[in-house]
Amino acid sequence: MMHLLSIRDLTRQRVDDIFRLTAELKSGRKAGELSTPLAGRVLALVFEKPSLRTRVTFEVGMAQLGGVAVYLAAQEIQMGVRESVGDVARTLGRWVNFIAARTYRQETVETMARLAGVPVINALSDLEHPCQALADFFTLSERGLDLERLRLAWIGDGNNVCHSILLLAALMGVDVSVACPPGYEPDRSIQTVARALGGRFRITPDARSAVEGADALYTDVWTSMGQDVERAARLEAFRPYQVNERLLALAKPTAVVMHCLPAHRGEEITDGVLDGPQSVALDQSENRLHVQKAVLVTLLEASNE
Ligand code: CP
Ligand code: NVA
Repeated sequence: MMHLLSIRDLTRQRVDDIFRLTAELKSGRKAGELSTPLAGRVLALVFEKPSLRTRVTFEVGMAQLGGVAVYLAAQEIQMGVRESVGDVARTLGRWVNFIAARTYRQETVETMARLAGVPVINALSDLEHPCQALADFFTLSERGLDLERLRLAWIGDGNNVCHSILLLAALMGVDVSVACPPGYEPDRSIQTVARALGGRFRITPDARSAVEGADALYTDVWTSMGQDVERAARLEAFRPYQVNERLLALAKPTAVVMHCLPAHRGEEITDGVLDGPQSVALDQSENRLHVQKAVLVTLLEASNE
């Protein structure tokens, strides 16, 4: 049984295969081909937090592959309150072929994977966002950028998206500079795994030095879902880390600007940069669809092996 709970569940070979399949599915779709390898299959979306991109791309992806998605909001199943995580997972596993879960705790997706009996996908937890990182590196590679020569600057919070980016960068040979305020660095456990995977990264409080010579700048909200009580302190701590025109001018002139969205415009990024010619944020969002279709097909094939 293969799951995608973390980038740790992948190898370089597996990512290359997923990217090849993503490119095929994307170009096939654009050419009007209809391929339905998931006909009759069902995906349950178990979401403890809100979503636009993740929910819609999984629902659209299942529809395009011939399957169906069932969305279950937090208030609906009240996982851990109305019944235990394990009972939700075991029950859903009797009806559906996959579960994609968006949770607070990483342990919740791990428990679901242990008990569901079907492949489980982490659709964002407090620790990781593997589907996002896959779409992001696919976006860079489809632009013809050589990942092994790429320098990516992460500006802002060492959060869930940053963690998956660091781990996938380690697998793909991308050099990363993380610029964040002291106290907001990526988790030590993630840094250790990224180093063990051969990751080349450094962490600095200085946004300007991180951006110098970068091929890609990536930022995300300063206050992630579930951190609202910290919002005022975070606004203060992150103020010097805004991705704006002045900061972008220090990167390579060809640098792309990345954001997983949703954005808090005027906080971590200015309108001018997010809507400017160097932004690839909407390509990242589009590629969530294509890459997750490839993930679903891959998980089904791997779990039938
Ligand atoms: N990037 C992302 O996961 O967006 P949503 O929170 O809208 O799903
Ligand atoms: N770090 C953000 C990502 C949203 C896609 C959050 O967890 O809210």
